[in-house]
Amino acid sequence: MGTVGFVNRGAGVGAILVTGGAGYIGSHVAKALAASGRRVVVMDNLSNGHRGAARFGELVVADVHDVARVRETIRHYEVSAVMHFAASLLVGESVRDPIGYYANNVGGSLAVLEAMVRESVDRFVLSSTAAVYGEPVETPITERHPTVPINPYGETKRAVERALTHFERAYGTRSISLRYFNAAGSDPDGELGEDHRPEVHVIPRAIDAARGGAALQVFGTDYPTPDGTCLRDYIHVSDLARAHVMALAHLDAGGSTGIYNLGIGKPFSVRDVISSVERVSGRHVPAEYAPRRPGDPGVLFASSERIRTDLGWRPDYVELDAMVASAWAWRQAHPNGYQEEAGR
Ligand SMILES: NC(=O)c1ccc[n+]([C@@H]2O[C@H](COP(=O)([O-])OP(=O)(O)OC[C@H]3O[C@@H](n4cnc5c(N)ncnc54)[C@H](O)[C@@H]3O)[C@@H](O)[C@H]2O)c1
Repeated sequence: MGTVGFVNRGAGVGAILVTGGAGYIGSHVAKALAASGRRVVVMDNLSNGHRGAARFGELVVADVHDVARVRETIRHYEVSAVMHFAASLLVGESVRDPIGYYANNVGGSLAVLEAMVRESVDRFVLSSTAAVYGEPVETPITERHPTVPINPYGETKRAVERALTHFERAYGTRSISLRYFNAAGSDPDGELGEDHRPEVHVIPRAIDAARGGAALQVFGTDYPTPDGTCLRDYIHVSDLARAHVMALAHLDAGGSTGIYNLGIGKPFSVRDVISSVERVSGRHVPAEYAPRRPGDPGVLFASSERIRTDLGWRPDYVELDAMVASAWAWRQAHPNGYQEEAGR
């Protein structure tokens, strides 16, 4: 392992730096790490995160581009591994602003990796995405599927995955890149939830529509799918969180670099989401039907066989209603999201 000389950063001892840990997925992972007995330090610039979400470990409010600050944080908290969630993630915005997306997603990742190399931290877990695949040529999508992203967001994540190959060769950085499909749901204890602004994800938007907000816009009803709407693979955020804890254990045990899909392998349509929210909430979901959006494939779902085989991961949540119920419960308890707790 590349951390010879840093005995205080061995497996199970050093803290885990969670960049973007005040955001949706990072906060759930921070909770899972803390529950598994790890010390957590969150670094987030709060551009899209919430102080109220960064409650499992100390919060350092900083931008990941600040290499000196990342290095100082690594030294101060004796960090042994980094989980990197901090990124910009709106596909449409990435098309309009590739400068911003390359800067934050590629530039930000390189800054974190540079700080790690300078401080001899050799374990890295990347939040990657199904968007690296582009238009699917076959489903379910395995990790061997061609990676031809169709938007800057997907390109930036693929660029970081590629950079990791070179970092390993040159500096010994071992990494796990986790390609999430559609993250969904909330912490079953009700301590954390999804509070993106703007919210672009279909489950929280359908929930907001059921609670009297704007009607849910459904893009495309003429796809070659059973009900004409898009099919997607939803994975509960707690199942994602557990996969991160397992990825870390793998790296701590000296395991090798890998790339893994994370989905449940069972797609649900937009109409399924609407029906599920109606069942769970007992309310009607008003919907408006609009034409397809360019670049939205009809069917997108994962094979997660590789992570099942290599790391022994299994999803606990395989039914949409259970995922939706957790999201609904959090929204009902926090109608303004983290605002009332965080002053933001
Ligand atoms: N939500 C999904 O369904 C999904 C799917 C695939 C991949 N991902 C990836 O997972 C990661 C987390 O997604 P999320 O839904 O939790 O997003 P999020 O916006 O809730 O969290 C990202 C966090 O990173 C912070 N951040 C952004 N740029 C930063 C910077 N330069 N310095 C410090 N902090 C910064 C934000 O303030 C925010 O708290 C992202 O990398 C995203 O690309 C998400």
